[in-house]
Amino acid sequence: MYKIVDKQSYNQDVDWMVVEAPLVARNAKPGHFIILRVDKDGERIPLTIAGIDGDHVVIIYQKMGYSTKLLGEKNIGDTIEDFVGPLGQAAHIRDKQHVVGVAGGVGSAPLLPQLKAYKEQGSNVSVILGARSKDYVILTQEYEAFCDHVYVTTDDGSAGQKGLVTDALNPLLDNDETIDHVIAIGPVIMMKFVAAMAKKHNRSIDVSLNPIMIDGTGMCGNCRVTIDDKTYFACIDGPDFPGENVDFDELMSRQNFYKDEEHACKLRLNKQ
Ligand code: NAD
Ligand code: FES
Repeated sequence: MYKIVDKQSYNQDVDWMVVEAPLVARNAKPGHFIILRVDKDGERIPLTIAGIDGDHVVIIYQKMGYSTKLLGEKNIGDTIEDFVGPLGQAAHIRDKQHVVGVAGGVGSAPLLPQLKAYKEQGSNVSVILGARSKDYVILTQEYEAFCDHVYVTTDDGSAGQKGLVTDALNPLLDNDETIDHVIAIGPVIMMKFVAAMAKKHNRSIDVSLNPIMIDGTGMCGNCRVTIDDKTYFACIDGPDFPGENVDFDELMSRQNFYKDEEHACKLRLNKQ
């Protein structure tokens, strides 16, 4: 059992949670993820690690489905049944001069340790935090603490520049020749357009892929993704990959595989 030692809500959908998990904390690097089960009958939830603090692991999750809603009902002092990790490959921290991180919504959580690692190795770092509205822009202060530039976009203009992350990225790539690398983490559709933009501007791009995962250990094949016409398993080969040649359309279609079941589950939960 794993104890919840701290928890806060950013808004009605997104929570920050700190879990006591010394073995995970000791071995985790930027890009690693964990799989948790809220209770013994629970579904496995994969979450990229947002930070480490001593023996504690920080996770940030969106209460979108049945299991993440159950997780959201847990409070400080409660326990989680399973908390397995670190899983996957650590992110490849490349030798780059100026890296721009592009985060969509809760994608700003897994991006944070990666950008910190770039800063620690001496790269300049900028970040674009995109969200649907002001309440969904998270971790701004944490990024401001070490980033050279922090840009905020919201779909409705309630904070920062009105528009999508790509509206902020395009002029940066046009005007700042020092930028030599982009990292995008967020909705697949966002990563698709950011990758295309980076490619058009001749900048390298890494993305963090979030297909449906079951076991997280390379056994079930659910998390397969296609890159350069080759199949990879996001759980053991990723979740971070070079973004230039990812088949994002296939990933979007595979993500919808259990859409009907998820919808039915949500309806059941709303009735309770
Ligand atoms: P969201 O749908 O509210 O979108 C966030 C932002 O992404 C938008 O404000 C916009 O700036 C940008 N965006 C969306 N569509 C775009 C488009 N067509 N072109 C350019 N930019 C676009 O985000 P959310 O509801 O917080 O969802 C976050 C998503 O990130 C989830 O789908 C989650 O699965 C994913 N995620 C991925 C990882 C990972 O490790 N890969 C980690 C966390 C979250
Ligand atoms: Fe099963 Fe990756 S989640 S193979």
